[in-house]
Amino acid sequence: MMAKLCVIPGDGIGLEVVPAAVQVLEQVLPDLELTYAEAGWGCFQQYGVSVLPETLDAIRESGAALFGAVSSPSRKVEGYRSAILTMRQELDLYANLRPVRSLPLVSPRQDIDMFLVRENSEGMYSGIESLADGRATATRVITEGASRRIAEQSLSIMQQLKRRKLSIVHKANILPLTDGLFRDAILAVVSEQSEQGFEIQTEEILVDVAAYRMLSAPEKYDVIVTTNLFGDILSDAASHWCGGLGMAPSLNMSQNLALAEPVHGSAPDIAGKGLANPIAAILSAALLVRFAWKNEEVAQRIETAVNNCLLEFSSQGINPITDQPGTQMILDRILANL
Ligand code: NAD
Ligand code: IPM
Ligand code: MN
Repeated sequence: MMAKLCVIPGDGIGLEVVPAAVQVLEQVLPDLELTYAEAGWGCFQQYGVSVLPETLDAIRESGAALFGAVSSPSRKVEGYRSAILTMRQELDLYANLRPVRSLPLVSPRQDIDMFLVRENSEGMYSGIESLADGRATATRVITEGASRRIAEQSLSIMQQLKRRKLSIVHKANILPLTDGLFRDAILAVVSEQSEQGFEIQTEEILVDVAAYRMLSAPEKYDVIVTTNLFGDILSDAASHWCGGLGMAPSLNMSQNLALAEPVHGSAPDIAGKGLANPIAAILSAALLVRFAWKNEEVAQRIETAVNNCLLEFSSQGINPITDQPGTQMILDRILANL
């Protein structure tokens, strides 16, 4: 079957790393059918909305999207909402898969292989905030339904990848109702699936200790499931172990749509200079191939080409992070290794 992909470069280095990832996909999947769409700060300035309705339609039509990054102001701008949050919400992309594994040369250690599953639809990202009389509040929404479906997604990934240990990260000691509900819903799904013969090991870990362990003993993590904001923070920290933000991939998923995006943002400090590392975007494309298009062989081909590219750099004494060889040179090496 011919795969379709909606390409949304976005802002900043999204415009540099997404075309690189598209070249990789075109080389391994020559029949890929591409459509291009707009979203981001530039889109907001031009059309007054951060995501065009046509963009949402194009993603629904393709079933799969590759998104770069968008710039968001950190103060409220009337009428603007982050493009990625809008797409996650409008398309019900409720799961965010953020695997982190050791890569040759760029990883500080070689024994890391964790898979973080972030609940992507609620929690602190409910968008319910108010300010009156010097008092600001944000509503953190946790529902049984969303907690159950992220548990089901986590277990389905564990089955697919033959993983056996699930760390449930929460803060139920001070949020017993919200995080207690999250934890209980996950444990209920684990217990239902164990009755049907899929046995896994679980542990509960409070988010502060989870952050400490992310620094002190990251090798202890296998699969992690957590709420939206905790997942956001822990996944940036985790990305240190695969060589930093320029290497960290992610995939947003709904029941029938998938949107790949690197964990990093639009990196205005290096945008337009040809210095951006395209590996995070390329590995995000590999996640799309594995989890949306279910093509394990091609996903592994891309990941092996990235590994081999890093080994080549290593043998030549070039460090792709500190020496910044540039987007084009990294891409050329990966294409040559495919
Ligand atoms: P950032 O991830 O854009 O950059 C953080 C640092 O990492 C910068 O020094 C940057 O140069 C470096 N970096 C990031 N990606 C890199 C790559 N591929 N290669 C080499 N270096 C890379 O985070 P920030 O600076 O906090 O945010 C910049 C903008 O991006 C903000 O407007 C923020 O809202 C937005 N943002 C968007 C997304 C998204 O669209 N998914 C994610 C995070 C931040
Ligand atoms: C991420 C980003 C987004 C988030 C921002 C840009 C809205 O940091 O994808 O991790 O907070 O989810
Ligand atoms: Mn983030």
